[in-house]
Amino acid sequence: MSNSAWKMDRDSQGIAWLTLDKPDTSANTLSKQVMRELDALLQSLARSPPRGVIIRSGKPSGFIAGADINEFTTLADAAAGYRLTRAGQVTFERLERLPCPSVAAIHGFALGGGLELALACRYRVAVGDERLQLGLPEVQLGIHPGFGGSVRAVRLLGVRPAMQLMLTGRPVRADKAARIGLVDRLVGAAELDDAARAMVLHPPAPHRPPLLERLLSLAPVRPFIKSVLIKEVAAKAPRAHYPAPYAMIDLWASNGAHGEAAFEAEARSIAAMFETPTSHNLIRVFLLQDRLKAQSTRAAAEVQAVHVIGGGVMGGDIAAWCALRGFNVTLQDLKLEYVEPALKRAGELFEKRLREPEKIAAARARLRADVAGDGVPDADVVIEAIFENLAGKRALYATLEPRMKATAILATNTSSLQLEPLAEQLARPERLIGLHFFNPVSQMPLVEVVYGAGTAPEVQALGVAFTRRLDKLPIACRSAPGFVVNRVLMPYLHEAMYLAQEGVPLAAIDTAATDFGMPVGPIELADVVGLDVAQDVGTIIANELGKSAPVHPHLAELVAARKLGRKSGAGFYTWHDGHPSKPPASASAPPDATDRMMLALVNEAVACLREGVVTDADLLDAAVIFGTGFAPFRGGPIAYARARGLADCMRRLSELATRHGERFRPDPGWNLLEQDPQTVNAVPKPH
Ligand code: NAI
Repeated sequence: MSNSAWKMDRDSQGIAWLTLDKPDTSANTLSKQVMRELDALLQSLARSPPRGVIIRSGKPSGFIAGADINEFTTLADAAAGYRLTRAGQVTFERLERLPCPSVAAIHGFALGGGLELALACRYRVAVGDERLQLGLPEVQLGIHPGFGGSVRAVRLLGVRPAMQLMLTGRPVRADKAARIGLVDRLVGAAELDDAARAMVLHPPAPHRPPLLERLLSLAPVRPFIKSVLIKEVAAKAPRAHYPAPYAMIDLWASNGAHGEAAFEAEARSIAAMFETPTSHNLIRVFLLQDRLKAQSTRAAAEVQAVHVIGGGVMGGDIAAWCALRGFNVTLQDLKLEYVEPALKRAGELFEKRLREPEKIAAARARLRADVAGDGVPDADVVIEAIFENLAGKRALYATLEPRMKATAILATNTSSLQLEPLAEQLARPERLIGLHFFNPVSQMPLVEVVYGAGTAPEVQALGVAFTRRLDKLPIACRSAPGFVVNRVLMPYLHEAMYLAQEGVPLAAIDTAATDFGMPVGPIELADVVGLDVAQDVGTIIANELGKSAPVHPHLAELVAARKLGRKSGAGFYTWHDGHPSKPPASASAPPDATDRMMLALVNEAVACLREGVVTDADLLDAAVIFGTGFAPFRGGPIAYARARGLADCMRRLSELATRHGERFRPDPGWNLLEQDPQTVNAVPKPH
């Protein structure tokens, strides 16, 4: 069976080694085929049991990344979801019931179904380096573990650590995994096989959760713990939008962590979760992310040196991120004292992300202050992040470009200027692109890779590939006012200003948006972005689009008084330690407030699509989700509009236009969307 994913060897000590090495892929996933093969192997092992079984991965990348998520999209109905999970449960039960010790030998990652498999083994040993990640992230797809993991995690770890793992979906690293008992031993990479073998030959007592955790799982105590857990979840994710975490808590509260009924209930529950719009949308978002990640890094293989100009909020953090990702970076500003805060922030980032002293020192060494711009002639990529001013940027390019390698690319981080005027006086305009990072750079996954009319296709491809090497999600955008993200945010923020002007309490405006599923409301967002930046960028984009600029009566006053939002401690709200204090709303927002803000955003998204700012609706949804945090469970603005009904959105927009003004007039792109159910791209893309 040359094409099989599993290889089984019995060694001289009678141990069966099961190695998973799924063909034609860099990471193992548990597809139906992989599960069927495993099931057959376990049946044969049950018939003639070995001394022990060790399961490991043949991939350098890690153990097992989880189930094959593409297969989730092919499930016809709840019954199909039930069959899929039940079959997986049966296989893992076979593993658990083997009459010999079983060990998962883990390196890199064991996630989702991969960790569920490891949980069905009697022991887990793992390579305890900084790459190790063990997690049950199913909740991020709107579902929960389904191969028995929700039951076994509680059984092994106790209710609170298990629930933390499952409800947050966040993987744990080596030290915590060992502390909570998720792994029995941490070893160096070279000792993994020997440590697994030792577990089989000298099996210790299997791990049990601490006594307190066991007591908390007793039936009479469960309702109390359940109410605590539900309260914690409700503070972050409402049940109506995110049913899966509540389902996990309910499952445990009703069935505990033992017995056939618990597994059966898990399978029934996940089958119901597969049918929710939330999981459809979150799975789609996951696959969109995969599509962005799959873009090749090849074109950027030669890039080694990066020069960043402007060591402020953005340039400083971009330089740090490039150094973190392994590039040699020089950082230029007008004076050394402007670079120093950026170097300090970079040090904090390296410490947080790299942990090991040698790696932190190496990253620090890769990032150098360079006031004279000595790095320019050697740089493969020059990133400009100076003040947002056309004349200033052009003046800089005039002295910069002649010193750059002919093969280097010049990338601007501009958020509102278009590429064509920036390229006007360049000798090599074809080598200018936009790399629009978002603030804060270390946390925002998206980069808009902007191409102008004169940008060469290979330069655009290099921008995309370089962005992937930075481990960010690149989306190619045509140069147009505000690109995608700021453009769709603008009418949303403006509408919030109109509502405020009408006297709606600020906190009530924010609540109307967060109830829809936005991560923060528009007023708070304006404070976070900075009111000066929001006003400038909003005005530039609005002017270029021929629309009116923000109208809140206090915005200009606040900016004039240097009350700029979070960064200055006060804006619309007052800020302490990075958190706004919001006066309680004296009234709720009017019933049409949510539609006014959200449909204004969606209408602008439709306009972007019609103008071909991005090439298809999926990319647009991805840009808005990864760039703004737009309610992921709604699948992005276009997915939301389709789910609500295009005709209903247009009717509602027309109604709002009559009541509140022409700014709500449905964009002509809606009709194109109606004609083409999948995508719309009226303007041909240059390349
Ligand atoms: P900033 O004001 O924090 O930093 C700009 C830095 O550039 C300052 O340190 C300044 O001394 C330096 N600088 C100005 N002229 C220079 C020159 N000729 N040579 C060398 N250094 C020079 O500005 P910020 O916020 O970092 O913005 C930079 C760029 O990034 C702008 O184009 C802005 O539109 C864009 N951007 C800003 C975002 C934000 O949230 N602040 C988000 C995305 C893009």
